[in-house]
Amino acid sequence: MNNIISISELSKTYQSGFQALKNINLDIAKGEIFALLGQNGAGKTTLISIICGIVNPSSGQVLVDGQDIIGHYREARSLIGLVPQELSTDSFETVWNTVTFSRGLYGKPPNPVFIEKVLRELSLWDKRNSKIMTLSGGMKRRVMIAKALSHEPKVLFLDEPTAGVDVSLRRDMWKLVKELQNAGTTIILTTHYIEEAEEMADRIGIIRKGELILVEDKRTLMKKLGKKELTLQLQHPVDSLPIELQLPGLTLSGDKSELVYTYDSNSEQIGIAELLRALAEHGLVFKDLHTTQSSLEEIFVNLVNAGAHNHDV
Ligand SMILES: Nc1ncnc2c1ncn2[C@@H]1O[C@H](COP(=O)(O)OP(=O)(O)OP(=O)(O)O)[C@@H](O)[C@H]1O
Ligand SMILES: [Mg+2]
Repeated sequence: MNNIISISELSKTYQSGFQALKNINLDIAKGEIFALLGQNGAGKTTLISIICGIVNPSSGQVLVDGQDIIGHYREARSLIGLVPQELSTDSFETVWNTVTFSRGLYGKPPNPVFIEKVLRELSLWDKRNSKIMTLSGGMKRRVMIAKALSHEPKVLFLDEPTAGVDVSLRRDMWKLVKELQNAGTTIILTTHYIEEAEEMADRIGIIRKGELILVEDKRTLMKKLGKKELTLQLQHPVDSLPIELQLPGLTLSGDKSELVYTYDSNSEQIGIAELLRALAEHGLVFKDLHTTQSSLEEIFVNLVNAGAHNHDV
């Protein structure tokens, strides 16, 4: 079996009557980095909390490496490390004791060598004897990650791992996550930084108002929904385009000095080579050109907005 997590027909209605998740079906493959994107209140934390056994599902099933999260709670939970969105770190305990204790909670025998390795990897070794409450926010977050890794989980959940974290720590975290993946850990993260998903994820899931509206390989997604733009700076401005060059996606800039060609992989537009040939035939010479490609951010905003127009009325 290659799926480490298998979610079927999962729904959640909170006691208030609010339906936070609607019929979620999702498989996560061993060793992948999966990013869950969605606006505030979309249901990301609810989904993670159910998989981790913190919130009860209303219906549906979740298997972690074949273990049912309800029927085999302890087995399933021992495979999971969770770095929660809300940090609870007012502890008077030291970093070392907290992380060591956390390992014990999962019934794992002590392993100081492993704990040392984790603390060193997270640049926490120098702080091992510091009380958690004396650490900075970013350091506390590292402690939460160390705790989540303390029992050597197969799956690591990171719920907004880099919220409120500075750029250098964010880069460190990305590096760490990649290393964990190389060591065989499966990683599921939620994020508001789409750049983070773009940088790290193998696959992207977009959740909107409790519905998983899209799950796609990141590269496929960007190829399928991304638009590319080619800008050609003309040697000599022209007043208008000849009729033969009035092609879909091709426009002349306001100051008449640039041609902008917007194209996407699905359209039936002419290719770049053909376009350049056509321009040459009409005596249009360009002195410079550049291309841009839409980011995952633009794709995400478009998708969520498209959804809003379709369903929210
Ligand atoms: N215990 C609860 N009782 C009732 N409603 C809840 C409870 N917990 C969460 N909700 C609601 O469920 C919805 C989903 O919340 P959730 O925390 O899963 O969103 P999220 O996608 O993680 O958002 P964020 O990006 O802000 O962290 C929200 O509308 C929230 O108000
Ligand atoms: Mg959340």
